[in-house]
Amino acid sequence: CGIVGVTGRQDAVEVLLHGLEKLEYRGYDSAGIYVNDLQGQDYLIKEQGKIAKLREKITSDVHGDAGIGHTRWATHGVPSEDNAHPHVSENGRFYLVHNGVIGNFAQLKAEYLSDVNFVSATDTEVIVQLVAYFAEKEGLDTLAAFKKVLSVVDHSSSYAFVLMDKTQPNTLFVAKNKSPLLVGVGPEFNVVCSDAMAVLNITHDFIELTDGDVVVITPQEVAIQDKNGEAVTRKHFTVDIDASASEKGAYEHYMLKEIDEQPAVMRALQQVYLNADGTVEIDDEMLTAIKNSERIYVVAAGTSYHAGLVGRELFEKIAQVPTEVHVASEFAYNPPLLAEKPFFIFLSQSGETADSREVLKRVNEWNYPSLTITNVPNSTLSREASYTMLLHAGPEIAVASTKAYTAQVAVEAILAKAIGQMKGLQKAIEFDLKKELTLVANAMQIMVDEKYNMEMLADEYLKTTRNAFYIGRGIDYDVAIEAALKLKEISYIQTEGFASGELKHGTIALIEEGTPVIAIITNELTAAHTRSNVQEVIARGANVIRIVMDSLSQDQDQIVIPEVHPLLTPLVSIIPAQLLAYYASKNRGYDVDKPRNLAKSVTVE
Ligand code: G6P
Repeated sequence: CGIVGVTGRQDAVEVLLHGLEKLEYRGYDSAGIYVNDLQGQDYLIKEQGKIAKLREKITSDVHGDAGIGHTRWATHGVPSEDNAHPHVSENGRFYLVHNGVIGNFAQLKAEYLSDVNFVSATDTEVIVQLVAYFAEKEGLDTLAAFKKVLSVVDHSSSYAFVLMDKTQPNTLFVAKNKSPLLVGVGPEFNVVCSDAMAVLNITHDFIELTDGDVVVITPQEVAIQDKNGEAVTRKHFTVDIDASASEKGAYEHYMLKEIDEQPAVMRALQQVYLNADGTVEIDDEMLTAIKNSERIYVVAAGTSYHAGLVGRELFEKIAQVPTEVHVASEFAYNPPLLAEKPFFIFLSQSGETADSREVLKRVNEWNYPSLTITNVPNSTLSREASYTMLLHAGPEIAVASTKAYTAQVAVEAILAKAIGQMKGLQKAIEFDLKKELTLVANAMQIMVDEKYNMEMLADEYLKTTRNAFYIGRGIDYDVAIEAALKLKEISYIQTEGFASGELKHGTIALIEEGTPVIAIITNELTAAHTRSNVQEVIARGANVIRIVMDSLSQDQDQIVIPEVHPLLTPLVSIIPAQLLAYYASKNRGYDVDKPRNLAKSVTVE
């Protein structure tokens, strides 16, 4: 979910709507705002569906100086207007937006609120009713009632709350635990938001909050108390991304823009991390920590997990460090038997994924060193890890990740070289990333320029099918899994990424007349084997598309990718897969950038 709050701006309605539009990637099943003009007028407007629908519903008379807004990704309760935030207390006095999950909401409801009529099925409504309950029954002022609520909320809960009290409408009451939240500072106004992107049009000056903080915000002041109730000051930081970096310009969809940006991201990474002589420039202390460890554990979710699978190839083959890759939500509650000296790498585009954060918390308790590779400076995973490497991919807005995946793989390659270089490994010293990443950038450019070919293929093979397969071996299998996710998440074609050789051991039963099978072939050693597997599925009726590296290509292969280093082929072979997914989704008439049921950044476990 995404949250924004503002006080001290006559254009509060527009600040909130603009903010919600920028946060829409965090959820888009319903949205709402509450605004108050400090003269006794206030408005609560909610709508099921995307922010555009909410905007349409807001008439020109709606105005205010302070307010809160929310865009939702449903956890408790179906997407509906009633379940949309802000939630309001029965007495109409308190309004609340929330991102997170309250573990003990049912108990709190049973214990304190049996007399209250609930409108929604959400855990959030319990919290706002409870604030009213403590304020009325115990005669507490708003801050005290709010803090009392926080004290009875179960500690494993996650929340970012922004509360307003109609009788004190220029004040935002804010609390944070595990869910991301920032305060933005302006002259005679202040804002609060889940992501700086929401308010970059009005401020670049931010304050980072720590778990357990309670904040009282007025136009003039930001008063922070830590979890012990002590007044504290927190660090300011500047976000210098240009607000226009998150505009899609002439593109119909962010996803296509972001696919097209990939060659430029490769060049940016070369600039940032490589010296003129091709050696890598990375924090020595971190490299030493990795060199001294026995095993790397990569932890991530979704597409980032898939980038980790490619990372394993790089860390093992270039840097000779044994590497395991884990799904964050699995690792958190069922960790494997660890090596004595582990080093953890968290891959996360957003730096906010709750599943990954839960693992990092444990890693910190165990006192093991960690690195976060992320696109977002100052994000939670970046702040909490020992070290950070940035992806320099620019804001990624489309829910389906593209340029963050390739940036992650490239940063892993750079890191693998740096580790190997420090260990004095010949293979790492010879891994000339200046040259190789230039070849990759050029190859990517050739692929993105072949859009027309992908559009035709998507039309021919993927227009009506119910299911599909990606197959590959080795590094191509790693890509097959990511390629399958790309296709299924935006086109809703049920797609599986499979090890080519394993298909015949059961899953081949699903191949029918016309089932699309997309084979990725970039490895000389296994090319012939994968081609045999292709023959096996053709014999059972499959319609096959082949994505093949130039030197291995044959006449009938539909997609030929230019030659690049064998360990960097994922950077190029994923591009046709991204484009096939894009056109399949578009052809089928879906919302490419905002596929159903998903959110770009999931800050609940
Ligand atoms: C969400 C997104 C995925 C993303 C995953 C991990 O589920 O929909 O596209 O890969 O989170 O996100 P992260 O920001 O940690 O890379």
